[in-house]
Amino acid sequence: MNFSDLEAKRITHLLGGGKEKLEEQRKKGQLTATERINALFDTGSFEEIDPFVIHNCNDFGMENKKILGDGVITGYGRIDSRLVYSFCHDFTVLGGSLGLSFASKICKIMDHALKQGVPIIGINDSGGARIQEGVESLGGYADIFHRNVRVSGIIPQISLIMGPCAGGAVYSPALTDFIIMTKSAYMFVTGPDVVRQVTNENVTSTELGGASIHNEKSGVAHFVADDEYDCFEILKKLLSFIPSNNLESSPKVKSTDSSKLLDESLDSILPSDSHMSYSMENVIRKVVDKEDFFEVQKLWARNIIIGFARLDGNVVGIVANNPEILAGVLDIDSCNKAARFVRFCDCFNIPIITFVDVPGFLPGTDQEWRGIIRHGAKLLFAFSEATVPRLSVITRKAYGGAYDVMNSKHIGGDYNFAWPNAEIAVMGAESACNIIFRKELSISENKHKRRSELVSDYEKKFSNPYIAASKGYIDNVIMPRETRQKLISALNAINRKREDLPKRKHGNMPI
Ligand code: HXC
Repeated sequence: MNFSDLEAKRITHLLGGGKEKLEEQRKKGQLTATERINALFDTGSFEEIDPFVIHNCNDFGMENKKILGDGVITGYGRIDSRLVYSFCHDFTVLGGSLGLSFASKICKIMDHALKQGVPIIGINDSGGARIQEGVESLGGYADIFHRNVRVSGIIPQISLIMGPCAGGAVYSPALTDFIIMTKSAYMFVTGPDVVRQVTNENVTSTELGGASIHNEKSGVAHFVADDEYDCFEILKKLLSFIPSNNLESSPKVKSTDSSKLLDESLDSILPSDSHMSYSMENVIRKVVDKEDFFEVQKLWARNIIIGFARLDGNVVGIVANNPEILAGVLDIDSCNKAARFVRFCDCFNIPIITFVDVPGFLPGTDQEWRGIIRHGAKLLFAFSEATVPRLSVITRKAYGGAYDVMNSKHIGGDYNFAWPNAEIAVMGAESACNIIFRKELSISENKHKRRSELVSDYEKKFSNPYIAASKGYIDNVIMPRETRQKLISALNAINRKREDLPKRKHGNMPI
């Protein structure tokens, strides 16, 4: 038998766009597509499919540019022993641009990932729609977008952005659950040239859509990686917290510090002045297994903290107000950030724990005019519709509508705890007294003294957890040191929760 044909084709395929192009890629400090696959997957586990696919375009000299695989490596393999499907753009082939055959390869493995119920990982490095293929490339993109939406909430989808990601190409990653960008990557709908023509702004690609822009300003991305290897490490850590599909649970690990249930340092973590801030991240770390908290979207909307951790080996999603930024107030961005995370956890059977210290919604024309009502409603909607186990700890303030929104008992919280100093009220005592005693204070002879009395009265009456606890809105008032033990116990008591809602097509979230 003669295998030389196959061997020759395999060698040609490995060269992608050719030796020169591979060298150019390396000179940019980037790995080639094959190197990326080798670095990401467990050794020898990746199986490529469709290496012999070529495009069908014969216009603009494309008949001479038919390259085996058509510029994208697709297949399946194991990451930390777990099966995933993956595609990896090859920038050395026509700039990683997407034509119909290229898109069909991606669609094929997305269909397989759905049938098998495993995550799909996309490695993006592409100049966007392959211009020579015209509408067929637009259709190719849309075929992928359609699948991104149809598999959403069934299998996890994660996008790694490792080079350019331009034009409509951004919308497939945007439809996936998480985006990890390397520092040298960029994403934009329209590039610097078009921006200059239309708005007269002069910006570089990085200024327009670099990793720091999308991690700090736009909230499009969830993680920034120092380099490509770091990007793979972040992906692996992320995967370790999430199940392969919506019918499974996240991988449980054996807890090695389950005996460490009490942490007395938590008793003194709150400052004596309730206007002062403290590190909510510290609170979280002291409560979860091994102080290991994997924060998501760490750099955007920092007034709310979201991320994954484990409690006694079980994965949980954490949503916490951050008193160090804007006093932990809810605003448009923080509501969007938390709402999407809550929905991810709910899709994939990850219990949610909230740590609440929230003075309310951010006031002002900027927020009102940009629709804080609509955006705040998203978080309310997301918590209300979530049917996974939901626990909550009010560490300090829970004022006004924000009390309701932050996973309160009233919107379906399963176990709601409060620390003894919690202030659960319609608003802070000072503001409350200024409103309800305005008339009395305006005619009072000693305004200052009278206000102090009224404020202290109000504080005694309403700014504590016991009224809410007397009505069953708070299941228990706990010592801060007991938080880990109470949460582990509550989680074990509710982890088999099943909640069936009446059948409907879907709710109408205010998006
Ligand atoms: C065809 C493309 C291409 C594309 C790049 N190439 N983008 N070929 N279609 N979209 C080719 C180049 O011609 C070149 O081929 C090779 O890829 C490498 O590109 P360079 O420009 O030399 O590389 P670099 O300087 O690194 O710049 C990379 C780039 C730039 C920033 C991505 O190529 C670029 O701006 N491309 C166009 C980006 C864009 O506007 N995309 C939007 C397309 S419209 P040779 O043979 O010379 O090596 C779109 C809409 C989709 O995506 C809508 C879906 C709903």
